[in-house]
This record gives sequence, C-alpha cells and structure tokens, in this order.
Amino acid sequence: MKKIIFALSIITLGCNTTKEKGMSNDTHTFSSKSDVRVEHLSLDINVNFESKIIEGIAKYSINKNHSDDTIHLDIKGISIIDVVNSVTNEKLNYAILEKDKVKGEDLAINVKDVNSISIQYKTSNDAAALQWLNAEQTADKKHPFLYTQSQAILARTWIPCQDGPGVRFTYDARVKVPTELMALMSAENPVAKNDSGIYHFKQKRAIPSYLMALAVGDLAFQELGRNSGVYTEPGQLKKCAEEFSDLPKMMDAAEALYGKYQWARYDVLVLPPSFPFGGMENPEVTFATPTIIAGDKSLVSLLAHELAHSWSGNLVTNDTWNDFWLNEGFTTYFERRIMESIEGKEYADMLKVLGYQDLQEELNAFGENHADTRLRLDLINRDPDEGLTDIAYEKGSLFLVHIENTVGREKFDAFLKNYFTSNAFKTMNTDQFLKILNDELIKNDKAIAEKINAIEWIDSTGLPSVIPIIQSSRLVFVDSALVNFKNQKSISSIDTKNWSSHEWLYFIRGLGEKLDATQMNDLKKNVNFAKSGNAELEAAWYLHVLRNNFTEDYIYVDAFLQKVGRRKFLMPLYAEMIKTEAGKKMAKDIYNKARKNYHYVSTQSLDELLK
Ligand code: BES
Ligand code: ZN
Repeated sequence: MKKIIFALSIITLGCNTTKEKGMSNDTHTFSSKSDVRVEHLSLDINVNFESKIIEGIAKYSINKNHSDDTIHLDIKGISIIDVVNSVTNEKLNYAILEKDKVKGEDLAINVKDVNSISIQYKTSNDAAALQWLNAEQTADKKHPFLYTQSQAILARTWIPCQDGPGVRFTYDARVKVPTELMALMSAENPVAKNDSGIYHFKQKRAIPSYLMALAVGDLAFQELGRNSGVYTEPGQLKKCAEEFSDLPKMMDAAEALYGKYQWARYDVLVLPPSFPFGGMENPEVTFATPTIIAGDKSLVSLLAHELAHSWSGNLVTNDTWNDFWLNEGFTTYFERRIMESIEGKEYADMLKVLGYQDLQEELNAFGENHADTRLRLDLINRDPDEGLTDIAYEKGSLFLVHIENTVGREKFDAFLKNYFTSNAFKTMNTDQFLKILNDELIKNDKAIAEKINAIEWIDSTGLPSVIPIIQSSRLVFVDSALVNFKNQKSISSIDTKNWSSHEWLYFIRGLGEKLDATQMNDLKKNVNFAKSGNAELEAAWYLHVLRNNFTEDYIYVDAFLQKVGRRKFLMPLYAEMIKTEAGKKMAKDIYNKARKNYHYVSTQSLDELLK
C-alpha cells in the first residue's frame, strides 16, 4: 500500500516536459525525469554460471544538491529484492512507474534526505547484455565464459543504472566468480588468476553506463609495452600478442596527434567468436572479436579505432544517441589518422576508399532522402541500435575530412586537440559542437562557414554537393586488375603478390553481381578466400558464393556462420540467402544450428530479418 501511494505522489514528475537544470534531453533513459544523479557506484556481485544469473548489491552515492526527491534508475528484466538507505539500512520506498518495450522499466526510489542507496538485485537468466558461453563455444573449449555488451542501452539489463550517456559516475566492484576463472572489468584489472575467485576493481574516472563491462573466463595476460597488453584464453595468447605488437606504437601516434592518453592502461581482451561487434571501447580494456586475428596484422586498424575512442567517446561523450556521430564519426577519422601515422598515407587512403564504399552502399540501401541519412538523428521512441549505421561512421568522418581540407590540417589538428582537452570527461551534443566549430575554427569568417557548410552536412539527408575526393593510388592498380579479370584473364596472370588484404577486399567488392563458373573456379583455385584466415575476405567472398550458387564452398559458409557471431558479417550473408526460396531454407537451417552461438545483439537483428 505504501508503495502505491508513493507512486501516485511522484507520478507528476513524468509529465514535466520543460528542461530543468541538471536534466537531459535523453529520451532513452528514465533518469532524465529528475535531477538526482548517481556519482559513484559500488558493486558487490556474484557471477553464477549454473543459474546464468548475476546477483548482488549495488550501492550508489548520489549528488547532494538536487532539487527532486526521487531518483529514477533504468532496469530491464532485473528483479529488485530490496532497496535501503546505505547509511541507516532503513528500507526505502520504491515503485516501477513505467514500462516500455525498448526502454524497460522506470525504477523510482524516494531519496528525500538520502545520500546513498543500496539495491539488492538479480538479473534474469536471459539478460540481453550478457552472453553465457559453454566450454564448447570458447577457443580452448575447456571452461565456460561470460561477457557483457552494454552499449547502447543494455547496461540496464545487468545493473540498475542511469543508463544514458549523459550521466557519468566512478565505480568500484567486488566480483565473485568460479575459482577456475578470472574476471575483468572496464577498470584497473588483475593480471593473473587467484585462488579465491574474488576480484576487486576500481574505475577512478567518471564514465557513462554504456562503458560498464565485465568478462569472466579462463584468461591469461601478456604485456605488450607502454601500459598496453592483451588478455585472452591461454591457447591463443601468443598469436594475439604477435598480431597486436604495434599497439604501443599506435598509442604513441594517437598521443602525438590529440594529446595525452587519459586512462591508466590500454589492454585488449580477445573474446570468443560470438562477440557481436568487431570491437567495443570499454575503458582500460577494449573487447575485441577474434576475427581480427588474421595472422598478418591486416585488420589491426580496428584496434586503432577502439583506441581512438579513448578520446572520442570515452573522454568526450555523445550527449544522447542522437549525437552518435560525434562518437563514431570522430573515431573513424581519428582511426585513419593513427593508421596514416604508422603505415603511411597510401595505406590510410585505402581505408578511406573502402569506407567511402560502405557509405555509398548505406546511402543506396536507405535511399538518399531517408531521415536516417542525417548525421543528427531523431531516435525518439526507437531503439538507439537503429542509429548504428555507416552514416554516423562514414558520413561523420567524411565531414571531418571536409573540414580538414577546408581549413588545413595544421589548424584542424590544433582544433581537435583542444576539443578533446577542453571537453574531457564531459558530454557533447551536436549544437554544442557547432558552436565550438564556429567559435574556434570559423570565427565568423563567412567564406569559411559557407565552405564548411556544417548545417547541411549535419541536418540534410544524403550528401552535400561538395564533398572530399577520396582516392587511393594503390587501389587504382586493382581497378585495372578488375578490368582484366572481367575480360576473362585468370587471376594467376595478374600481379597480386604485393596486395594486402585491403586490395583483395576492394577486388572482391568490385567483382560485380554475377560471375561465371570459370571465374569462380579460377578464384577458388588460385586464391581460395575461404582458406585465407581473413574474416573480412571470407565474408566478402561468401556473398559471391551465395549469389553464384557456388555450391562447393557452401560448407565454408555454413561453418563460418556457425562460428562467427559478428553482426556486420552475419546480416549481409543471411540477407543474401533469403533472396531465393532455396536460400531461405538454407538460411533457416543454418540459423537454427547457429543461433545459440550468437549474442542478443545479433539474434535481435536476425530474428527480425528471418521472421
Ligand atoms: N562502439 C562501437 C560499437 C557499438 C556501437 C556497439 C553502438 C553498440 C552500439 C565500436 O567502437 C565500433 O564502432 N565497432 C566497430 C569497429 C569498426 C568500425 C572498426 C565494429 O564492431 O564493427
Ligand atoms: Zn566505434
């Protein structure tokens, strides 16, 4: 009864639409309803592999000078067992005020005269952020594994939190795991297993909830130098360390560009293949897919990307998911600048051309006039996952290349360095960025403003009429190889010996829709992408395998889709299959077997595609 009365007394809060001090415009979190903010989180949790549940206590320190008496936390599928004042241990009144399919539940707690609250909770056994893997689904096949993926709004499925990028808090944690496993978090981390199975973590820098991360598995560590290293299962540690040996160099390059690295360490955790993304920039420890271990360092630009997020995203954070391009567009630009520093301009130019192809494809898929081809998005009442497109990444970085071309590299680099320093540990929205751009780079120069044309880049669909010319001298040679190949010359007669995987990827993409049997056999016999060990090339090749009914490689398509859970690879392959009736059956058969190997992020998209 008490609870219900409380619910009625605060329900009016939700109707208040004017923005008050301390509140945000983030429509994807219930925490925007009041100005009570979490400042520090202390987690004490137990990771139970049998029940596939995380349970424990989350203690929150809240800001003292707030004007509301209610704190709103986001939860989704979490059971609340008890809510108390951490100081007095007295029970606090709470209620679920609202339920939403995308956002989950609004957990409102009365915090009048309270500075710290403790919530005892447990997750459901199908929490979306969590993937529980059995031993078979790991690299070494000896022990189970758990990892989280919190971005964009999945942190609320494993920790009650103010789950919007505009709320930053520090945290510490005590995590209990089975003794044969070790835990890592987006914080200062252990380097070895201990006998107790209890691990302590501390994140001294304030981070948004989407950067909360946990991984538990049979893990080993190898230092790579200059505060960076790699964690993975023991059997693949050496291979991963070799692949990532340039990481210290990347960090030097990044610092030389945009200022000192602001976090304690930069480590990478190589996860089992089901990880739905290429990489996730969890502070101190980037989570990465094993599909970037190609054996020749050809896919390490992905680490340059996640490292770059240590500035763009983790230091200067998009205010809401509508401003996602400020995270990903800046990071994609920064990633290529790091690669240019360590591999040279011609190398970075190849990445830019491939990225530009991704952008063209995305624009074609949307249609030029689609609202989601704008940089500034409107994701109200939608899952923020829908904003995860190449528009944010590639149109965003193209815009920055355009600004660089307009004002010159020297000025633009100084601008960016200052942008990261002055806004460190703060959020940024698109309007604020426009103001900084004007104040610090355009400085009311009408001619420059016109050339930069920022509003059109940001708020118009498609692309402006003046865009940077993106070209690569190394790929010009591949263009002529493509002409020869299409004129029925064998690939063996073309000089490909110095091609990197980027040239090959450009080649495969350039082959066109239909290839005849002679051409498919020629590529199979002389290059055999299925056996290349490079997941990017495999995935690109399998599209041709499916399109051209090249049945002898179907077993490889099948094996790839059962093993790899990276959504970027899965979606185009399944989408290609379902274009024909026979393909639909094949897609369903493979998906039935493979679905258990995919994280929620991927199954959510695939369930929709294959329904
Ligand atoms: N932060 C993203 C991944 C992400 C974005 C997860 C939005 C959930 C919601 C990460 O930095 C990323 O961009 N990963 C890319 C890497 C690539 C662009 C180099 C990926 O996983 O493919
Ligand atoms: Zn990114």
